[in-house]
Amino acid sequence: MLGQLLLAASGSRVVRRAVSGFPLTRKVVDRFVAGESVEEARDTVERLRDTGLAVTVDHLGEETRDARAAAATTDAYVTLLRAIRPLELGARGEVSVKLSALGQRIDEAMALEHAREVCAAAAVAGSAVTLDMEDHTTVDSTLAVLRKLREDHPSTGVAIQAYLFRSEQDCRDLSSEGSRVRLVKGAYREPASVAHQGRTAVDKAYVRCLRVLMAGKGYPMVATHDDRMIAITELLADRFGRTIGDHEFQMLYGIRTDLQEALAGAGHAVRVYVPYGDDWYGYFMRRLAERPANVAFFLRALGGR
Ligand code: FDA
Repeated sequence: MLGQLLLAASGSRVVRRAVSGFPLTRKVVDRFVAGESVEEARDTVERLRDTGLAVTVDHLGEETRDARAAAATTDAYVTLLRAIRPLELGARGEVSVKLSALGQRIDEAMALEHAREVCAAAAVAGSAVTLDMEDHTTVDSTLAVLRKLREDHPSTGVAIQAYLFRSEQDCRDLSSEGSRVRLVKGAYREPASVAHQGRTAVDKAYVRCLRVLMAGKGYPMVATHDDRMIAITELLADRFGRTIGDHEFQMLYGIRTDLQEALAGAGHAVRVYVPYGDDWYGYFMRRLAERPANVAFFLRALGGR
């Protein structure tokens, strides 16, 4: 219930103004966001690299209907990729992109061109791009853009949200060799007509999608902080003869850091999703919605404790 309210608030301009304007909010946001500047993002990436973790960096930003803003986001990614290039991360340092921030709602072709530019900059850095998945109305368009990007940049990946009814089939379609799929539970407020509702149904759907990807020939990116999903991944890896290096775990910056380091220490490939930038509101509200304890943490900070 609280989660649903927070997800609703994540789209509200009034709540955005109230939350963003509160000085102590920053303290809590810092737990999930690696700073506002590209320099802060680079420093975080370097620190994570030194603890054996790979990264996917997200320049924070959500849907825009302003072509100049979409172009500015594209430039921000190119600048970011140039900034992290000297760290020589190669495939251990990729970027995550929301097509809506590149102008998908204005014109899909515009978003495709911008995404091509980001993919080209990533290729120069020996790196790759993964497309985030947003609300269900964007899925067909995002997968269409993915297919076109992969013609020139076959390592481009995509997030698939297990909570959508369609996703098991999408996983089948994307389980061929060379395909990189990040499996997530899903973070948006979706109607019962398109998505499983409730934790148990979503978890079961996650396992079904995971099975398809682990049995396939692609590169599964298992994005979850859920111990049970991680344990099931290890069982499925055994069953389908997968070894360390042909799949990876992914987690969000600031969430279950101990688990990220423990898995990496045990030899698993672990990638941390590192968001940075000043447009953190939507991302931050989705993290609060995922876990009521985060709201308590937020309220305590607002109360100065
Ligand atoms: P679940 O929510 O069941 O959490 C399991 C456990 O993890 C909790 O009990 C808690 O311990 C911990 N945990 C989870 N969330 C937490 C939080 N916010 N704060 C503190 N602890 C937390 N979604 C989407 O729709 N599109 C996308 O493109 C992406 N991309 C993406 C990339 C990566 C790398 C990750 C890890 C996640 C995403 N997501 C996403 C978000 C995803 O859909 C989902 O909302 C979160 O990962 C939470 O789901 P879990 O699988 O962690 O399980």
